[in-house]
Amino acid sequence: MPINRRIITIIVTVFAITLLTGCNAQDKEVEKKPAVQEIEVQEETQIDEKPEVKVPQEETSPVTLDKETVPDEVVSDVKNAVEAQYVKVKKCKKCHLKQFKSWKKTTMAKSFENLKPGVNAEAKKKAGIDPDKDYTADADCLRCHTTGYGKPGGFVSLEKTPGLINVQCEACHGPGGKYNLIMKKHRKTFKVDELTAVGFVVLKGTSAEKECLVCHGDDNPFNEKIDPKYKWDFKERRKNAHQYFPLKYKH
Ligand code: HEC
Ligand code: HEC
Ligand code: HEC
Ligand code: HEC
Repeated sequence: MPINRRIITIIVTVFAITLLTGCNAQDKEVEKKPAVQEIEVQEETQIDEKPEVKVPQEETSPVTLDKETVPDEVVSDVKNAVEAQYVKVKKCKKCHLKQFKSWKKTTMAKSFENLKPGVNAEAKKKAGIDPDKDYTADADCLRCHTTGYGKPGGFVSLEKTPGLINVQCEACHGPGGKYNLIMKKHRKTFKVDELTAVGFVVLKGTSAEKECLVCHGDDNPFNEKIDPKYKWDFKERRKNAHQYFPLKYKH
């Protein structure tokens, strides 16, 4: 009984606060924090016995921008003071399992392997790359074979950021530290503009090609001049980044 009453109280409180504050939580001050937090608690612990001690069980990553450590940084006024960090593919997988599964089958999901000595020796020789050399710490390879190399919160080294090897979701979609929180809080109602303001990269249409050319351009050692099979064709390649599934909501 007390639990039911508690839940009702929370719902009523949240509803009242929502009415008072409107939907523009984004622009509001730090005072709004309790409101957002209560919404969180209510959503995640509906049938939990002890809502007050339950902390949402998210896997924490070494590059922490979790709401435990940086509470509501999305709605805070200092939102652009820190650049968005890379959160790693596991985070995206939790909500986008289908895209994850098809991406996992591509060479991008294991592209770091190619930097190890002996791997893909024939292809390396043809491209004038020493097949016996270890390139796993070579800046010139890392920028294309890892996620966020040289960017804030991106890949640093195999020792420091092992979770950011390979060409992950965020290599194309942008660092997710902030936009994944927006997706989480406002599943149905977020606007793409809100995401791009915090690092999300729009990949719709042909203008997205420039994002690919950062790695698929002529400075890629495995280009058309080495072998026609490396020819870059945006329309074709785009189909194979991963499988696409229609969104449920308009953003
Ligand atoms: C807590 C859940 C959650 C997490 C974590 C999450 N997303 Fe999303 N994402 C969503 C929801 C919900 C939508 C909207 C789905 C819909 O409308 O059908 C969405 C939409 C998207 C879209 C489409 C946006 C558009 O409107 O064009 C992309 C791309 C995307 N997510 C990529 C990512 C990536 C990359 C990550 C990891 C950095 C990530 N998401 C993490 C829930 C999440
Ligand atoms: C951070 C660098 C980077 C970016 C950005 C990037 N790619 Fe790639 N991509 C790679 C690398 C590296 C490989 C090769 C992986 C390997 O074989 O080691 C690759 C491979 C691919 C493949 C082959 C997958 C397979 O299994 O056959 C496709 C398709 C592809 N990329 C599409 C795209 C598209 C489309 C974009 C832009 C929307 C893009 N890539 C952006 C680095 C990148
Ligand atoms: C400018 C970005 C870029 C740089 C720098 C780069 N790569 Fe790649 N690499 C790619 C892309 C893109 C592909 C996929 C080519 C394709 O499928 O057309 C690739 C593919 C490969 C492959 C697989 C070739 C095959 O036929 O399967 C190997 C091996 C590889 N890279 C090793 C390296 C090494 C070692 C270095 C550093 C000396 C390096 N790459 C530097 C972008 C890059
Ligand atoms: C090689 C670049 C690339 C990589 C890597 C990549 N995506 Fe995408 N993704 C795209 C493109 C291109 C689109 C289509 C345009 C759009 O909707 O933004 C897209 C669309 C999406 C969408 C919108 C819904 C849909 O299915 O069309 C989601 C969600 C998404 N990606 C999630 C992910 C997740 C999760 C990962 C990692 C497991 C990932 N993407 C890795 C290029 C990429």
